Amino acid sequence: MSLATLVDVLTKANKENYAVGAFNTNNLETTRAIIDGAEAQDAPVILSTSLGAFNYAGFDNLATLAYKAAQNAAVPVVLHLDHGTDLNLVKKCIDAGYTSVMFDGSHFPFDKNVELTKKAVKMASEKGVSVEGELGTIGGAEDSVASREILLTDPQKAVEFVEKTGIDALAIAIGTSHGAYKFTHAEQQLDIRRLSAIKQATKMPLVLHGASLVPKEIVELGQSFGAVIGGVQGVTESELKRAVKNGVNKVNTDTDLRLAFTAALRQTLMKNPREFDPRKILKPSTQLMQKVVEDRIRLLGSSGKA
Ligand code: G3H
Ligand code: 13P
Ligand code: ZN
Repeated sequence: MSLATLVDVLTKANKENYAVGAFNTNNLETTRAIIDGAEAQDAPVILSTSLGAFNYAGFDNLATLAYKAAQNAAVPVVLHLDHGTDLNLVKKCIDAGYTSVMFDGSHFPFDKNVELTKKAVKMASEKGVSVEGELGTIGGAEDSVASREILLTDPQKAVEFVEKTGIDALAIAIGTSHGAYKFTHAEQQLDIRRLSAIKQATKMPLVLHGASLVPKEIVELGQSFGAVIGGVQGVTESELKRAVKNGVNKVNTDTDLRLAFTAALRQTLMKNPREFDPRKILKPSTQLMQKVVEDRIRLLGSSGKA
């Protein structure tokens, strides 16, 4: 039995200054890549499922798969709802045995975000489930510098938000965005000073969303087998390391797994036009996703921390 809560794994990460990888899954192959990768690195891991993933796989199918995979793992696995925007879904996940839920009220005004997040905390704490909240919005590449400033998390507001809601981890906006097209310039940097100020003020486990690196070799592999992916820009390895050094303890990755899955799939299909057994076709995709998971875990410093 190796289900763990977010509090279990992030308390240690916060104390010892490393980050735990949170990876999104929506199918069997990705789930296995995440768990096998964490086991190979002897690392704790966070298995995340979003509403989009539930809509794709079916709630019961995915929740059961993720629960069983987490329960049977040889390392601590946090079974986590990613970007929950609906309290009914939060409840459904808690009832299904999730050990952690994110309530994302970041698109609401501050007071409404506090009010709804508090409700999620009340529901979750009765069952010993952890809660991640979010303050600030994870901006897109098109945001101007002026609007970036408004979207990014304010350190004093962060303290107020944590105190009023009672959350266990706080997702902050310091310049990342979801997806493969994060920045307009390769040299664009994260607001590490702001991150430091939030950490000093809250002392909380902090969460970085939109943290995919969009690895060049994986993008190029996809491109060499016909993928049309241009102008992509991820977070750099050194920026991610700086973020961890300055207080990020949970790092979210979804896009890099999608890129790995599809790049390997394109390669396999092109190289083996006679193959039609899905189990054989999907194996290289699972293996490449596992490599991404293991590389990320090493970068975050959580290898050997299980
Ligand atoms: O943060 C968003 C995750 O990448 C999940 O994406 O809503 O398409 O499942 P999704
Ligand atoms: P990426 O799109 O950068 O992988 O971010 C994923 C994420 O934040 C999931 O919550
Ligand atoms: Zn996210």
